[in-house]
Amino acid sequence: MGLGSAWFTFVIQKHDNMTNKTFTMIKPDAFAAGNAGAILKHIEGAGFKIKAMKLLKLTPEKAGEFYAVHSERPFYGELVDFMSSGPIVAAILEKENAVADFRTLIGATNPANAEEGTIRKIYAKSVGENAVHGSDSDENAAIEGSFFFSAFEKI
Ligand code: RTP
Ligand code: MG
Repeated sequence: MGLGSAWFTFVIQKHDNMTNKTFTMIKPDAFAAGNAGAILKHIEGAGFKIKAMKLLKLTPEKAGEFYAVHSERPFYGELVDFMSSGPIVAAILEKENAVADFRTLIGATNPANAEEGTIRKIYAKSVGENAVHGSDSDENAAIEGSFFFSAFEKI
């Protein structure tokens, strides 16, 4: 490998290094309810730094691609319809132990089972419409972050 390509590889790895980073979406229910600002304040108040952020609406195709891991599950159609039903906020967040700490901050998938004070307990209505997404591993955080953001959009 020449010096040029070694440098290129280093730059790519630097951008894709998602250790201490996670990916989140404020889902259509929470955005439509006017809770995006409060949820971002909650996230920043817990020590997460915003490293990338955008407001967008997913097409059904893009929502289906994002949640392809669940394509055989009975709730997949509902999930795709819901995630493409309105605007979302997508963001990359940074903090030590980001993936696990963020999952703790958002609470259980079903808000009925979520701990008091968690984002889903406060803002989610149901297991289907549960206010926020959080990556479940460093590997998925990197894949999901790159699904929404180019290298130049990640600070
Ligand atoms: P997310 O990926 O959105 O952060 O949620 P999660 O890890 O807590 O839960 P996961 O098992 O990955 O499920 C993804 C999303 O699918 C919807 N869901 N609906 N009706 C149902 O039984 C059901 N189960 C899951 C939820 O919106 C969940 O967040
Ligand atoms: Mg998940």
